[in-house]
Amino acid sequence: MGKNTTILDHPLIKHKLSILRDKNTGTKEFREIVGEIAMLMCFEATRDFPLDEVEVETPMGIAKCGVLSGKKVAVVPILRAGLGMVDGVLTLIPAAKVGHIGLYRNEETLEPVEYYCKLPSDIEEREVLLVDPMLATGGSAVDAITQIKKRGVKHIRFMCIIAAPEGIARVEREHPDVKIFCAAQDEKLNEIGYIVPGLGDAGDRIFGTK
Ligand code: PRP
Ligand code: URA
Repeated sequence: MGKNTTILDHPLIKHKLSILRDKNTGTKEFREIVGEIAMLMCFEATRDFPLDEVEVETPMGIAKCGVLSGKKVAVVPILRAGLGMVDGVLTLIPAAKVGHIGLYRNEETLEPVEYYCKLPSDIEEREVLLVDPMLATGGSAVDAITQIKKRGVKHIRFMCIIAAPEGIARVEREHPDVKIFCAAQDEKLNEIGYIVPGLGDAGDRIFGTK
């Protein structure tokens, strides 16, 4: 794991992750917790956002304050499962625009198949928070980052909940400028490309499709 990857192993995130991993957790709770983890991760992933110093007049005097220095943000979920993380991010950054990238993995080759891409028209001026709960082989994340970079974006942070070492290594190798934030790095991928121990299929668990 390189210097661009951060494991956000805060106790609140770890606790919520233990519920997500549990095979007995149902769709409603799973969906809620994905959103809560995304919100907590967003808090940490934006820790180095720049501030401008301003003076604010309080009822008692002048306070030196920090305000976000006009950096505009776009949240981009990788469909489907990334959708589950959007509201958590928007809770903290309500003015963010939202783009969508549709990708699914071919189950035999594990290569991503693109089916949708709609991004804010001024995305090149924005700080992008790309979100997807699972980073497995890394194929989907690498493809999504490539699509976003083609639109002129300079700053991309990728937030995922569980990552496999193979996926982290691939994103670090192919996009060394992208910062990766994840809640846990798991042991390995199994022979059909699922993260072990992981949490199963994130899209199916968020949307109740299995
Ligand atoms: C899952 C997950 C990621 C991808 C990760 O999506 O949400 O997008 O797999 O795997 P990778 O790192 O090997 O590319 P999936 O392809 O199952 O699509 P879905 O969200 O539509 O179910
Ligand atoms: N996608 C998932 O949803 N889960 C995995 O373990 C791997 C890819």
